[in-house]
Amino acid sequence: MHHRRLFSDRGSCTYCCGITYFLFFLLYSLLFSFAEYLTQVDLEKEKETQEIKAKEEFDKGERKATTVVELLEKLSKPGQIALYYCGGLEILSQALTDCTGQTLFRLNNGFSIITSNVTVRSCLLEKTNDPESRELCVSVLKLWRRVCCGNDENQKLLMTCPVATQSIVHLASSEHDEVAKECLALLSVYSEIPRGRHLAIESLDLNMLVRNLMVCVSKPKKQQENTAVSILQNFATESRFCIQLRNVLTDSVILPVTTILKNVNTSNQHILPSLISGLGCLARDDVIRHKLAHDPECWKAFLVAVRTCIASEYREILYPLLGLIMNLSTVTSPVVQELSVSLCDSCVDLLRHNDEGIITRATGVLSAVLPQSPQAVQHVIQREMVKTMCRLLEGTGQTATKYAIKTLTVCTAASHLAREKLVNSDKKLSILRCLLSSSCDEMVSGNAALCLAHCLDLEGVASDLLGTDIVLLLLRHAAGDAKRTAVQQNAAIALGKLCRCEPRHTSKLRELHGLEILHSCVKLIS
Ligand SMILES: *[C@@H]1O[C@H](CO)[C@@H](O)[C@H](O)[C@H]1NC(C)=O
Ligand SMILES: *[C@@H]1O[C@H](CO)[C@@H](O)[C@H](O)[C@H]1NC(C)=O
Ligand SMILES: *[C@@H]1O[C@H](CO)[C@@H](O)[C@H](O)[C@H]1NC(C)=O
Repeated sequence: MHHRRLFSDRGSCTYCCGITYFLFFLLYSLLFSFAEYLTQVDLEKEKETQEIKAKEEFDKGERKATTVVELLEKLSKPGQIALYYCGGLEILSQALTDCTGQTLFRLNNGFSIITSNVTVRSCLLEKTNDPESRELCVSVLKLWRRVCCGNDENQKLLMTCPVATQSIVHLASSEHDEVAKECLALLSVYSEIPRGRHLAIESLDLNMLVRNLMVCVSKPKKQQENTAVSILQNFATESRFCIQLRNVLTDSVILPVTTILKNVNTSNQHILPSLISGLGCLARDDVIRHKLAHDPECWKAFLVAVRTCIASEYREILYPLLGLIMNLSTVTSPVVQELSVSLCDSCVDLLRHNDEGIITRATGVLSAVLPQSPQAVQHVIQREMVKTMCRLLEGTGQTATKYAIKTLTVCTAASHLAREKLVNSDKKLSILRCLLSSSCDEMVSGNAALCLAHCLDLEGVASDLLGTDIVLLLLRHAAGDAKRTAVQQNAAIALGKLCRCEPRHTSKLRELHGLEILHSCVKLIS
């Protein structure tokens, strides 16, 4: 009979948004590649300046500069005993105190001197397994970090060396703590700045890298898990990284993350907020978000984690976790539908939480999941959802209001019982009228009008509203800003029902010249 439109988080004007987004995207990519080009030019200039300065300092015979060159010469001579070689690397690391040292290392073939050594290569690739090899490995990794820290050209060069790219990825999960720690420290250097991330993303085996970082995250020890998770988090902000993970998501990400989520406990709770935030970053990629939202293991793990967090009062985890769930549940998915009753059940429990942020997000999840599942709607109504939403609507912040009215509207759309409960607790629908008069958020007023229209299906409701400001309120929205067509439609529908059920409202409408106004609106909308 009528077009009813429920307000979602997405805009109503998809078509024009599409064009705007496209133009914006085009402009953005042009600017982006131009900015990258400018960065390259800047970096090239910087490199030249640094090299000139380094040569000058060396020619002047400055001690710091000559030390680096002398040490490299010594290290390139064959036949030294291993202990001496290791010591040399250590002293070289310490000598690399500034950009001049780093530049001289590069200009004097430092990278190839180190990586062409057969012993060094085999220990970096973990082909030998004795304490000396490990020590050598640690020394090389430390040296690389000192050489690359804050030096773009050196970071670039290291990433062109196959022994380096291969070993960095593998050693991240080395069973030897010192080796793994140094490797993670080196990876951190790359992960902390955009340019470093781009270099690493282009050169490293990301699938393997993520798996190995996840190994560190899964076995919390000696703070390494914190470093590993922040490396992941940093990389996850890059869309190129996400794109490369799309096809290996299940093994590299979903499997390890769900295992952790199903086993939240005192030994891993500290890494979960960052891990969840990293997952949230990955979920900004459309393909990944779709995959996560359709993955049964993911949702099962979310459920287990939410319950554990409720039981153990892990608020620091619960808050970001609900944010992620809220975000993923905006995707319509059979998996969400299947688990909707359990999920909504946990959310209802959370509506009694003492933290307002948690309540808001739990309501957000309900508002996104309930439209996907009639069973869940029936279930939450049995759990006094209507009463709870009314309570929330009477006194909470903007965001909670948005989700609460949407939830209430979904319930009243699907259930006669919900309408009865609402009307019984609030005869003159003062909560809805209040939202219609005070809110400037179109999602709120649109849903309030729709919810009101649902309630008007009950006998006597229209008559109970005689003498209130309802006609004026609805008329104001129906005749409102033409850009908000969904609000207008819903208000017009409610107004029509109101007058049909109770003709005495029609005289009020006439008095306000409502019919003329509505007539011109209908033309506008249709
Ligand atoms: C390679 O490194 C080892 C130390 O592990 C050292 O003993 C050897 O002399 C080095 N070889 C060359 C050619 O530098
Ligand atoms: C916590 O869970 C992990 C599995 O993720 C398990 O290995 C560890 O033993 C658990 N720790 C405690 C204290 O229960
Ligand atoms: C939530 O999902 C939307 C897409 O539906 C995305 O654009 C947004 O960045 C996500 N928000 C967070 C906090 O992850």
